[in-house]
Amino acid sequence: GLPEYVKIVEVGPRDGLQNEKIIVPTDIKIEFINQLSQTGLPVIEVTSFVSSRWIPQMADHTEVMKGIRQYPGIRYPVLTPNLQGFHRAVAAGATEISVFGAASEPFSKKNINCAIEESMEKFEEVVKSARHMNIPTRGYVSCALGCPYEGNITPQKVTEVSKRLYGMGCYEISLGDTIGVGTPGSMKRMLESVMKEIPPRALAVHCHDTYGQALANILTALQMGINVVDSAVSGLGGCPYAKGASGNVATEDLIYMLNGLGVKTGVNLYKVMEAGDFICKAVNKTTNSKVAQASFNA
Ligand code: HMG
Ligand code: MG
Repeated sequence: GLPEYVKIVEVGPRDGLQNEKIIVPTDIKIEFINQLSQTGLPVIEVTSFVSSRWIPQMADHTEVMKGIRQYPGIRYPVLTPNLQGFHRAVAAGATEISVFGAASEPFSKKNINCAIEESMEKFEEVVKSARHMNIPTRGYVSCALGCPYEGNITPQKVTEVSKRLYGMGCYEISLGDTIGVGTPGSMKRMLESVMKEIPPRALAVHCHDTYGQALANILTALQMGINVVDSAVSGLGGCPYAKGASGNVATEDLIYMLNGLGVKTGVNLYKVMEAGDFICKAVNKTTNSKVAQASFNA
Protein backbone atom coordinates (compact mmCIF):
# COMPACT_ATOMS: atom_id res chain seq x y z
CA GLY A 1 0.00 0.00 0.00
CA LEU A 2 0.84 3.66 -0.22
CA PRO A 3 0.81 6.29 2.54
CA GLU A 4 -2.20 8.61 2.71
CA TYR A 5 -0.01 11.66 3.16
CA VAL A 6 3.55 12.44 2.12
CA LYS A 7 5.56 15.18 3.79
CA ILE A 8 7.62 16.97 1.16
CA VAL A 9 10.88 18.51 2.37
CA GLU A 10 11.80 21.25 -0.10
CA VAL A 11 15.59 21.48 -0.39
CA GLY A 12 15.78 23.86 -3.37
CA PRO A 13 17.07 26.94 -1.55
CA ARG A 14 19.92 24.87 -0.03
CA ASP A 15 20.74 21.80 -2.18
CA GLY A 16 19.43 23.59 -5.25
CA LEU A 17 21.45 26.75 -4.95
CA GLN A 18 24.66 25.42 -3.35
CA ASN A 19 25.75 24.02 -6.69
CA GLU A 20 24.84 26.92 -9.00
CA LYS A 21 27.68 28.67 -10.80
CA ILE A 22 25.85 31.96 -10.43
CA ILE A 23 25.82 33.09 -6.83
CA VAL A 24 22.21 34.06 -6.35
CA PRO A 25 21.74 37.49 -4.76
CA THR A 26 20.51 37.35 -1.18
CA ASP A 27 17.29 39.26 -1.86
CA ILE A 28 16.38 36.79 -4.64
CA LYS A 29 16.91 33.87 -2.26
CA ILE A 30 14.70 35.54 0.34
CA GLU A 31 11.96 36.23 -2.22
CA PHE A 32 12.24 32.63 -3.48
CA ILE A 33 11.83 31.19 0.03
CA ASN A 34 8.94 33.55 0.80
CA GLN A 35 7.21 32.37 -2.40
CA LEU A 36 7.76 28.74 -1.40
CA SER A 37 6.19 29.50 1.97
CA GLN A 38 2.96 30.29 0.16
CA THR A 39 2.69 26.97 -1.67
CA GLY A 40 1.67 24.75 1.23
CA LEU A 41 5.10 23.14 1.63
CA PRO A 42 5.49 22.00 5.27
CA VAL A 43 9.31 22.08 5.39
CA ILE A 44 11.71 24.39 3.52
CA GLU A 45 15.44 23.89 3.98
CA VAL A 46 16.80 27.41 3.96
CA THR A 47 20.61 27.41 3.84
CA SER A 48 23.81 25.92 5.27
CA PHE A 49 25.98 27.22 8.08
CA VAL A 50 29.13 25.87 6.47
CA SER A 51 32.44 27.46 5.55
CA SER A 52 32.09 30.16 2.90
CA ARG A 53 35.50 29.10 1.62
CA TRP A 54 34.07 25.66 0.90
CA ILE A 55 30.61 26.70 -0.32
CA PRO A 56 30.60 30.37 -1.36
CA GLN A 57 26.96 30.03 -2.50
CA MET A 58 25.83 29.74 1.12
CA ALA A 59 28.01 32.57 2.52
CA ASP A 60 24.94 34.74 3.11
CA HIS A 61 23.32 32.16 5.41
CA THR A 62 22.77 34.60 8.26
CA GLU A 63 21.21 37.30 6.06
CA VAL A 64 18.93 34.77 4.38
CA MET A 65 17.83 33.24 7.66
CA LYS A 66 17.14 36.65 9.19
CA GLY A 67 15.55 38.00 6.01
CA ILE A 68 12.89 35.39 5.31
CA ARG A 69 9.41 35.55 6.70
CA GLN A 70 8.87 32.49 8.88
CA TYR A 71 5.24 31.40 8.65
CA PRO A 72 3.63 29.55 11.52
CA GLY A 73 3.30 25.84 10.86
CA ILE A 74 6.20 25.74 8.40
CA ARG A 75 9.60 24.46 9.46
CA TYR A 76 12.80 26.05 8.20
CA PRO A 77 15.77 23.73 8.88
CA VAL A 78 19.38 24.61 8.06
CA LEU A 79 22.52 22.49 7.65
CA THR A 80 25.04 22.61 10.51
CA PRO A 81 28.16 20.40 10.23
CA ASN A 82 29.65 21.29 13.60
CA LEU A 83 29.21 23.40 16.75
CA GLN A 84 30.50 26.53 15.06
CA GLY A 85 27.79 26.24 12.41
CA PHE A 86 25.20 25.37 15.02
CA HIS A 87 25.90 28.46 17.14
CA ARG A 88 25.77 30.70 14.09
CA ALA A 89 22.52 29.10 12.97
CA VAL A 90 20.90 29.66 16.36
CA ALA A 91 22.12 33.27 16.43
CA ALA A 92 20.47 33.78 13.04
CA GLY A 93 17.16 32.42 14.32
CA ALA A 94 17.17 28.78 13.23
CA THR A 95 14.81 26.52 15.17
CA GLU A 96 15.56 23.27 13.36
CA ILE A 97 18.86 21.89 12.07
CA SER A 98 20.34 19.03 10.08
CA VAL A 99 23.65 17.28 10.45
CA PHE A 100 24.98 15.55 7.36
CA GLY A 101 27.04 12.41 7.39
CA ALA A 102 27.90 9.85 4.75
CA ALA A 103 28.11 6.11 4.27
CA SER A 104 31.39 6.55 2.39
CA GLU A 105 34.77 7.43 3.93
CA PRO A 106 36.25 9.21 0.90
CA PHE A 107 33.05 11.22 0.43
CA SER A 108 33.02 12.24 4.09
CA LYS A 109 36.61 13.40 3.79
CA LYS A 110 35.95 15.37 0.60
CA ASN A 111 32.67 16.87 1.76
CA ILE A 112 33.25 17.75 5.40
CA ASN A 113 36.99 17.14 5.75
CA CYS A 114 36.88 14.36 8.31
CA ALA A 115 36.40 10.61 8.67
CA ILE A 116 32.95 9.17 9.39
CA GLU A 117 33.81 8.41 13.02
CA GLU A 118 35.09 11.94 13.62
CA SER A 119 31.99 13.39 11.96
CA MET A 120 29.75 11.34 14.27
CA GLU A 121 31.56 12.74 17.30
CA LYS A 122 30.99 16.28 16.03
CA PHE A 123 27.34 15.54 15.29
CA GLU A 124 26.86 14.15 18.80
CA GLU A 125 27.98 17.49 20.25
CA VAL A 126 25.64 19.34 17.90
CA VAL A 127 22.64 17.12 18.63
CA LYS A 128 23.27 17.42 22.36
CA SER A 129 23.48 21.22 22.27
CA ALA A 130 20.40 21.35 20.07
CA ARG A 131 18.42 19.14 22.41
CA HIS A 132 19.20 21.48 25.33
CA MET A 133 17.55 24.25 23.31
CA ASN A 134 14.63 22.11 22.17
CA ILE A 135 15.88 22.26 18.60
CA PRO A 136 15.10 19.12 16.59
CA THR A 137 17.91 17.63 14.50
CA ARG A 138 17.53 15.76 11.25
CA GLY A 139 20.33 13.51 10.02
CA TYR A 140 21.42 12.98 6.42
CA VAL A 141 23.27 9.94 5.14
CA SER A 142 24.90 10.68 1.80
CA CYS A 143 26.01 8.03 -0.69
CA ALA A 144 23.23 5.69 0.46
CA LEU A 145 23.03 4.14 -3.02
CA GLY A 146 26.54 4.79 -4.30
CA CYS A 147 29.58 7.00 -3.95
CA PRO A 148 31.36 9.15 -6.54
CA TYR A 149 34.74 8.00 -5.15
CA GLU A 150 34.31 4.37 -4.10
CA GLY A 151 31.36 3.27 -6.19
CA ASN A 152 29.27 0.61 -4.52
CA ILE A 153 28.12 1.13 -0.93
CA THR A 154 26.74 -1.77 1.06
CA PRO A 155 23.31 -1.57 2.71
CA GLN A 156 25.11 -2.61 5.94
CA LYS A 157 27.24 0.53 5.90
CA VAL A 158 24.21 2.76 5.28
CA THR A 159 22.40 1.00 8.12
CA GLU A 160 25.32 1.40 10.50
CA VAL A 161 25.61 5.17 9.92
CA SER A 162 21.84 5.67 9.99
CA LYS A 163 21.57 3.78 13.25
CA ARG A 164 24.31 5.91 14.76
CA LEU A 165 22.52 9.15 13.80
CA TYR A 166 19.15 7.87 14.98
CA GLY A 167 20.66 6.63 18.22
CA MET A 168 22.20 10.02 19.02
CA GLY A 169 18.79 11.64 18.70
CA CYS A 170 18.16 12.63 15.10
CA TYR A 171 14.36 12.45 14.73
CA GLU A 172 14.47 11.68 11.02
CA ILE A 173 17.13 10.12 8.81
CA SER A 174 17.24 11.28 5.20
CA LEU A 175 18.84 8.66 2.97
CA GLY A 176 20.59 10.46 0.14
CA ASP A 177 21.24 9.08 -3.32
CA THR A 178 23.79 11.84 -3.71
CA ILE A 179 24.81 11.02 -7.28
CA GLY A 180 21.51 9.55 -8.45
CA VAL A 181 22.83 6.12 -9.39
CA GLY A 182 20.26 4.05 -7.49
CA THR A 183 17.51 1.95 -9.02
CA PRO A 184 14.31 0.55 -7.48
CA GLY A 185 16.33 -2.62 -6.90
CA SER A 186 19.14 -1.03 -4.91
CA MET A 187 16.67 1.27 -3.12
CA LYS A 188 14.67 -1.76 -1.97
CA ARG A 189 17.74 -3.65 -0.75
CA MET A 190 19.08 -0.60 1.10
CA LEU A 191 15.73 0.17 2.77
CA GLU A 192 15.15 -3.45 3.77
CA SER A 193 18.41 -3.30 5.67
CA VAL A 194 17.92 0.14 7.26
CA MET A 195 14.31 -0.64 8.25
CA LYS A 196 15.51 -3.52 10.43
CA GLU A 197 16.99 -0.85 12.73
CA ILE A 198 14.89 2.27 12.17
CA PRO A 199 11.10 2.54 11.87
CA PRO A 200 9.93 3.76 8.43
CA ARG A 201 8.16 6.78 9.99
CA ALA A 202 11.62 8.11 10.96
CA LEU A 203 13.06 7.74 7.46
CA ALA A 204 13.10 9.98 4.40
CA VAL A 205 14.50 9.55 0.91
CA HIS A 206 16.54 12.20 -0.89
CA CYS A 207 16.94 11.30 -4.55
CA HIS A 208 19.07 13.03 -7.14
CA ASP A 209 17.92 12.28 -10.67
CA THR A 210 21.22 11.85 -12.51
CA TYR A 211 20.23 8.56 -14.12
CA GLY A 212 16.53 9.38 -14.38
CA GLN A 213 15.57 6.91 -11.65
CA ALA A 214 14.43 9.30 -8.92
CA LEU A 215 10.63 8.98 -9.23
CA ALA A 216 10.83 5.19 -9.59
CA ASN A 217 13.09 5.03 -6.52
CA ILE A 218 10.73 7.26 -4.54
CA LEU A 219 7.70 5.17 -5.50
CA THR A 220 9.58 2.08 -4.31
CA ALA A 221 10.28 3.77 -0.98
CA LEU A 222 6.62 4.83 -0.60
CA GLN A 223 5.49 1.28 -1.24
CA MET A 224 7.80 0.19 1.56
CA GLY A 225 6.22 2.58 4.06
CA ILE A 226 8.35 5.73 3.77
CA ASN A 227 6.28 8.92 3.82
CA VAL A 228 8.84 11.74 3.81
CA VAL A 229 10.46 12.77 0.53
CA ASP A 230 13.05 15.47 -0.19
CA SER A 231 12.85 17.34 -3.50
CA ALA A 232 13.92 20.62 -5.10
CA VAL A 233 11.80 23.01 -7.12
CA SER A 234 12.69 22.86 -10.84
CA GLY A 235 14.97 19.91 -10.15
CA LEU A 236 17.78 22.21 -9.05
CA GLY A 237 20.59 20.78 -7.02
CA GLY A 238 23.77 18.84 -6.68
CA CYS A 239 26.68 18.56 -4.34
CA PRO A 240 29.91 20.41 -5.17
CA TYR A 241 31.86 17.47 -3.69
CA ALA A 242 30.07 14.88 -5.80
CA LYS A 243 31.27 15.31 -9.38
CA GLY A 244 28.65 14.52 -11.98
CA ALA A 245 25.77 14.70 -9.52
CA SER A 246 22.85 16.43 -11.14
CA GLY A 247 19.70 17.89 -9.67
CA ASN A 248 17.30 16.56 -7.09
CA VAL A 249 14.00 15.12 -8.15
CA ALA A 250 11.83 18.12 -9.12
CA THR A 251 9.21 19.03 -6.52
CA GLU A 252 6.72 19.66 -9.35
CA ASP A 253 7.21 16.14 -10.75
CA LEU A 254 6.94 14.59 -7.29
CA ILE A 255 3.67 16.43 -6.57
CA TYR A 256 2.26 15.48 -9.98
CA MET A 257 2.98 11.81 -9.27
CA LEU A 258 1.54 11.96 -5.76
CA ASN A 259 -1.57 13.80 -6.98
CA GLY A 260 -2.07 11.08 -9.55
CA LEU A 261 -1.75 8.42 -6.88
CA GLY A 262 -4.26 10.23 -4.67
CA VAL A 263 -1.61 10.78 -1.98
CA LYS A 264 -2.12 14.05 -0.10
CA THR A 265 0.74 16.57 0.20
CA GLY A 266 -1.06 19.82 0.99
CA VAL A 267 1.10 21.52 -1.65
CA ASN A 268 -0.28 23.55 -4.55
CA LEU A 269 1.42 22.39 -7.75
CA TYR A 270 0.68 25.56 -9.67
CA LYS A 271 2.18 27.81 -6.99
CA VAL A 272 5.29 25.61 -6.83
CA MET A 273 5.65 25.96 -10.61
CA GLU A 274 5.48 29.74 -10.25
CA ALA A 275 8.23 29.72 -7.61
CA GLY A 276 10.24 27.44 -9.91
CA ASP A 277 9.79 29.82 -12.81
CA PHE A 278 10.96 32.70 -10.61
CA ILE A 279 14.18 30.99 -9.51
CA CYS A 280 15.00 29.61 -12.97
CA LYS A 281 14.79 33.10 -14.44
CA ALA A 282 16.99 34.38 -11.61
CA VAL A 283 19.71 31.79 -12.26
CA ASN A 284 19.18 31.98 -16.01
CA LYS A 285 18.42 28.35 -16.69
CA THR A 286 15.57 26.24 -17.98
CA THR A 287 13.68 24.08 -15.54
CA ASN A 288 14.57 20.41 -15.10
CA SER A 289 10.98 19.65 -14.15
CA LYS A 290 9.21 17.70 -16.89
CA VAL A 291 5.86 18.77 -15.45
CA ALA A 292 6.80 22.45 -15.55
CA GLN A 293 8.12 22.08 -19.11
CA ALA A 294 4.95 20.37 -20.24
CA SER A 295 2.69 22.89 -18.50
CA PHE A 296 4.45 25.98 -19.78
CA ASN A 297 4.44 24.61 -23.32
CA ALA A 298 0.79 23.63 -23.17
P1 HMG B 1 37.39 22.41 8.09
O1 HMG B 1 38.31 23.29 7.27
O2 HMG B 1 37.80 20.99 8.28
O3 HMG B 1 37.08 23.05 9.52
O4 HMG B 1 35.96 22.49 7.44
P2 HMG B 1 38.00 23.36 10.74
O5 HMG B 1 37.19 23.07 11.93
O6 HMG B 1 39.35 22.71 10.60
O7 HMG B 1 38.18 24.96 10.62
C1 HMG B 1 38.88 25.54 9.53
C2 HMG B 1 38.29 26.91 9.24
O8 HMG B 1 36.92 26.77 8.85
C3 HMG B 1 38.31 27.84 10.43
O9 HMG B 1 38.48 29.17 9.94
C4 HMG B 1 36.94 27.71 10.99
O10 HMG B 1 36.54 28.86 11.68
C5 HMG B 1 36.10 27.53 9.74
P3 HMG B 1 39.93 29.90 9.94
O11 HMG B 1 40.31 29.91 11.38
O12 HMG B 1 40.83 29.02 9.10
O13 HMG B 1 39.62 31.22 9.32
N1 HMG B 1 34.84 26.83 10.00
C6 HMG B 1 33.61 27.30 9.69
N2 HMG B 1 33.22 28.44 9.10
C7 HMG B 1 31.89 28.61 8.93
N3 HMG B 1 30.96 27.71 9.31
C8 HMG B 1 31.32 26.57 9.93
C9 HMG B 1 32.70 26.34 10.14
N4 HMG B 1 33.39 25.32 10.68
C10 HMG B 1 34.67 25.63 10.61
N5 HMG B 1 30.38 25.70 10.30
C11 HMG B 1 33.60 22.18 7.25
C12 HMG B 1 34.89 21.71 7.91
C13 HMG B 1 32.54 21.16 7.53
C14 HMG B 1 33.21 23.52 7.84
C15 HMG B 1 33.85 22.31 5.74
O14 HMG B 1 34.36 21.11 5.25
C16 HMG B 1 32.63 22.70 4.96
O15 HMG B 1 32.12 23.79 5.10
N6 HMG B 1 32.17 21.82 4.07
C17 HMG B 1 31.03 22.09 3.22
C18 HMG B 1 30.13 20.91 3.24
C19 HMG B 1 28.86 21.18 2.46
O16 HMG B 1 28.16 22.14 2.69
N7 HMG B 1 28.57 20.28 1.48
C20 HMG B 1 27.34 20.33 0.73
C21 HMG B 1 26.17 19.90 1.58
S1 HMG B 1 26.06 18.13 1.79
C22 HMG B 1 25.07 17.61 0.45
O17 HMG B 1 24.82 18.37 -0.44
C23 HMG B 1 24.45 16.23 0.48
C24 HMG B 1 22.98 16.24 0.87
O18 HMG B 1 22.22 17.03 -0.03
C25 HMG B 1 22.43 14.81 0.87
C26 HMG B 1 22.74 14.06 -0.42
O19 HMG B 1 22.43 14.54 -1.52
O20 HMG B 1 23.29 12.96 -0.27
C27 HMG B 1 22.80 16.80 2.27
MG1 MG C 1 21.53 16.40 -2.00
